[in-house]
Amino acid sequence: MAYSAKVMDHFSNPRNVGEMKDPSGVGEVGNPKCGDIMRMYIKVEHNIITDISFMTFGCGAAIATSSMATEMIKGKSIDEALKLTNKAVMEALDGLPPVKVHCSVLAEQAIKSAVADYYRRQGIDPTPIVGDIPECEACHV
Ligand code: FES
Repeated sequence: MAYSAKVMDHFSNPRNVGEMKDPSGVGEVGNPKCGDIMRMYIKVEHNIITDISFMTFGCGAAIATSSMATEMIKGKSIDEALKLTNKAVMEALDGLPPVKVHCSVLAEQAIKSAVADYYRRQGIDPTPIVGDIPECEACHV
């Protein structure tokens, strides 16, 4: 299966890339299957994610899914951001080849990890709100 036009677009022209000054939360996750790393920054105001950016030391599919995920949650509430699944991001990209599904999990995990950091910085235990950060099933096969 070849990459969709949307994947190629977000890979070659990723949105919201880079470090953020004074973020409200930062999440960093690694993919045990390939060793790739993703860092996600969020700025939160009144429970809304007003800004988001990411840096990925990873493959094209990881870049494309992160780019699309940031576009999908920018301006949304934290609750909505936490509901974003890797499946929804993949659908928005018109699919990924099966061997690349695990790459999309990185974006979902990074968002949850950044939100968890946001709560921790305020002295709030994130576990009841964010839950366990899902492990990549594809990475355990
Ligand atoms: Fe590592 Fe895609 S191969 S995230």
